[in-house]
Amino acid sequence: MSLHILGTGSYVPPLVVTNDDLSKYVDTNDEWIVSRTGIHQRHISVDETATDMAAKAAFAALENSGVKAEELDLILCATVSGDNLCPNLACMVQATIGATCPAFDLSGACSAFLFLLETAAAYLSTGRYHKILCVGSEQMSRILDWNDRSTCILFGDGAAGVVVEQGEDYLGSQLMVRGGDEVLKVPTPIGNSPFTKLEPTHPYVYMNGSETYKFATRTVPAQIQQLLEKTGVEQEQVDWVICHQANRRIIEAAARRLKGIPLEKFLMNIDEYGNTSAASIPLLLDECNRKGILKRGDLIVLAAFGGGLSCVATLIRW
Ligand code: ACO
Repeated sequence: MSLHILGTGSYVPPLVVTNDDLSKYVDTNDEWIVSRTGIHQRHISVDETATDMAAKAAFAALENSGVKAEELDLILCATVSGDNLCPNLACMVQATIGATCPAFDLSGACSAFLFLLETAAAYLSTGRYHKILCVGSEQMSRILDWNDRSTCILFGDGAAGVVVEQGEDYLGSQLMVRGGDEVLKVPTPIGNSPFTKLEPTHPYVYMNGSETYKFATRTVPAQIQQLLEKTGVEQEQVDWVICHQANRRIIEAAARRLKGIPLEKFLMNIDEYGNTSAASIPLLLDECNRKGILKRGDLIVLAAFGGGLSCVATLIRW
């Protein structure tokens, strides 16, 4: 597998919605949300779509990489809250940023960005592709049931991505799927076919919180452990862990099980953005890149879990 990250970029909509703001719409409060999740606020779109945000994140990543849109030879995008089922997000980004290359989406919910990186690394290895843009973008506010206090408080909107080229920095990955829709799902609308006998759907995020919590706290550290074993890297050698930002308590529980990696190495921004699904890992990566936290040569574990269910851990060198 071949990959080197040339640069990162992100975009979040300007409206900040605090936990107190949410308590005007659903029966909740700041103390409950902070103590259960670590989330203090999230950014919510007023008039920007997943495509608008993805294009802004893409421009930022291109600028940070010193790459022009016309130099890209592939665009890979991921979203569960895109504007359309067709055309896909990647095609819309291609048109908006003025690229001419092929573009397609992968669907992987909150793990999607790591599926994008895995795919980009495989494509780069073939030698047929040289510069690939990977972007996750979510307008989660569009697919939340704002009457359901158990889900609407968890998510935020935003987009982020990377530009990658061939290189030696993709050190390994560990992917698992436990297929099924009992724990997490976002159904599509049933439509108005006069022939259908299917029950109408509730086309919003459905989540069994405690099952998601159990899956994440067991699977994320196990996948990281297996990844490090197979790449021959000791936990103590890991400089940073960038985990999907779904719940601070999940990250703390994962850290407790990985005794060689102290909690300080688990980077976090969940307090500001909530869970931005496919955008979550690149959003944090971009923030740490721009703040100069990541140094060349650092060993970074990226770890995600999401609807599928799936869990991916990836080891990269910065
Ligand atoms: N405000 C106030 N009270 C609430 C809220 C709220 N927003 N939501 C639920 N409650 C109440 C419940 O009704 C319940 O009340 P009851 O005891 O009277 O029945 C009580 O709080 C406890 O509810 P639980 O669901 O048991 O709360 P828990 O401590 O398990 O926390 C949470 C819920 C935060 C969702 C937790 O289960 C969790 O973090 N799960 C993982 C979720 C996650 O990471 N999702 C990621 C999204 S999907 C993805 O990223 C792939």
